[in-house]
Amino acid sequence: MTTAWLDDDWSKGILLGIKPDPTSGYRATVWFEYTRRIFNEIREGSLIAIRNFSDRRRNPNGSPAEDRNAGYEEYSILQIDQVYPWHYAIQGGGEQGYPGFTVASAESARRDWLDMDIQNRDDVSRVKCEAIPIRLAFRLDAQDDQLPEPFFDRSMPMPGFEARLLSSEMVRAVLNRDIDEAQAFELGRHVVQYDVPIMVERHKLARLHFGIFGYTGSGKSNLVSSLVDRLLASGRQPAGRGEQAFKVVLIDLMDEYTGLLIDHLISHDYSRLIVCGRRTLPERVLTACEEVGRGSENAAQLALEAAEDWSRRLILPSELKEHSGRYVERLMSLILRQKIVFYEPRRLQGQDFTLGVDNLRNNIGTAAFGRGSEDRERLNSLLDEIDNLLGTARDADGDERRQILNQIISRLNDVDQDLTTGTGRKAVKSFIREIEEQMRSREPLPGSVTTEPYNIVNLLNFQPSHPGASYLPSLNVVIGEDEGHIITFVSQLIENCFENRRTRSILYPTVSFIFDEADVFIAQDNRQSAGNLVAQATMLARRGRKFGLGIGIATQRVVYLDTSIMAQPHTYFVSKLPRKSDRERIADAFAISDETLKQTFGFTVGQWLVTSHDATGLKGVPFPVQLPNANDRIRRWLGVERDQNTT
Ligand SMILES: Nc1ncnc2c1ncn2[C@@H]1O[C@H](COP(=O)(O)OP(=O)(O)OP(=O)(O)O)[C@@H](O)[C@H]1O
Ligand SMILES: [Mg+2]
Repeated sequence: MTTAWLDDDWSKGILLGIKPDPTSGYRATVWFEYTRRIFNEIREGSLIAIRNFSDRRRNPNGSPAEDRNAGYEEYSILQIDQVYPWHYAIQGGGEQGYPGFTVASAESARRDWLDMDIQNRDDVSRVKCEAIPIRLAFRLDAQDDQLPEPFFDRSMPMPGFEARLLSSEMVRAVLNRDIDEAQAFELGRHVVQYDVPIMVERHKLARLHFGIFGYTGSGKSNLVSSLVDRLLASGRQPAGRGEQAFKVVLIDLMDEYTGLLIDHLISHDYSRLIVCGRRTLPERVLTACEEVGRGSENAAQLALEAAEDWSRRLILPSELKEHSGRYVERLMSLILRQKIVFYEPRRLQGQDFTLGVDNLRNNIGTAAFGRGSEDRERLNSLLDEIDNLLGTARDADGDERRQILNQIISRLNDVDQDLTTGTGRKAVKSFIREIEEQMRSREPLPGSVTTEPYNIVNLLNFQPSHPGASYLPSLNVVIGEDEGHIITFVSQLIENCFENRRTRSILYPTVSFIFDEADVFIAQDNRQSAGNLVAQATMLARRGRKFGLGIGIATQRVVYLDTSIMAQPHTYFVSKLPRKSDRERIADAFAISDETLKQTFGFTVGQWLVTSHDATGLKGVPFPVQLPNANDRIRRWLGVERDQNTT
């Protein structure tokens, strides 16, 4: 039979009292008689039900649906968020009492913890819990073999009544309430009820933004890899099912997702690794890409060598390091299938030649060599000479251009000692700096390997035009020499993508722009000299959903994030945050109390406190979820297990 709660005596507790709480409404104190068994069953995240004050059925809008009825029963559901063992003999740290007694009673408690395995005898010990409401209640009038249907809770539990531990079927029903299975994926398992899968609706997660907050090493990148995997697992969708199609743009400052999402870079035809700045990857990779683009005969050999070089430098989690050799073939495939594209602004590629003699002419002053007419003539002929040289330099490129520019610099250095005014010397110096800047620009990248933001926008905004065509999922990982390079590309990408969708009224496929190390790109103050993406991220967060554009942010330093963006995600994942300032920011932005957040201290890697206003079945209340390890997925994809089993 399906039951809402456990019936055994050992599983029953009692509600001792409730006190108001600004974030959750109230906090309840619940005690269970200590047994070792129950202490292992109840954990932060366990759900309990306690009879509440309600005396009649109500309509969804709160109006009474029937007359009062003294026999009416309804149960409020609460979630335990603190659990600790308590024994009468050992209270406090023991510093106050007579040491001999304190130790003796601690020793007797030791026996009690073990002896009271499935039954509590002496009334000296308790499991003390605190719980918060999840704003759902149920009645016990369901048909046979049906679980009760939870509904909005307008009441409060009655102190003194029994607390009943919900069965895992009921936990599953409560946590996955009203989930649309067709749009959902399994995020992970409930931390206490391991047999309960936690479902998340893709479109609500991606379109209504999500945030990932946890200390360094808590598993943010691993989680991002798993979420992206699940979003893209939506697969190819026919034109009529645009809502169910997804693409991802992942801004990857540390260049760690080539390793963590290699499966999705390879398996979708339109996935791209977007490289901002040619010095991001080993030089051989660029060379190999060029040769592939050119159709050279030895392209495959060069791609193999480049992939070997690259695989040795690839950033991988320690669990995957020993398998770096298995990446060679895959990285080579990225090169051969031309999935790696490079971006450098025209200025950096030396394609913008902005030098002209006018700046120098305007700043040097007419008396630079003196006031005589000869002096003036000398100045004019110098300026004409430089103007000519600049003209030749503009038409040249590469070494030839560099030689001419060097010639101009040495000519200016020669006349420097003849200059009679400070203004003149200053003007010459600053002009030399301008020339040097231009010289630092690089050779143009060959067209076959380069991309521009609008190319990627076209891939992201592609709309199948006839009914037989499909939306295809894809992953775009953006890496770069530094944040400046990435920002230049991504800011144009987001602006163009948004504008293009707005003018053409494009809603699908949903694109999720995910920022790892988000504090670098969307910092509260303008700490980054290279600029930032606050404006673009704000646009996505505030107006993106209308056009199917969402944002995801992952960071370990919550306090550095721009506050208005920080407040936008409807779904957030929180792990250990040892700094109080970070926790306070989370507590403020999402109305989670510090007491509830404290349970994250006990989390191991891969455990997350998940709260969502839309994407999960339980709305607006944090609950603990065990996420799968993304490294396992990659290992399977690389064939590690298969090969180990056959050898
Ligand atoms: N769910 C998980 N199961 C098992 N191991 C995990 C899980 N999540 C992360 N790990 C491991 O924990 C380590 C840290 O994970 P990860 O790099 O994802 O953390 P992070 O929060 O992104 O750290 P950083 O702040 O340095 O970016 C890695 O070795 C990773 O493989
Ligand atoms: Mg990380």
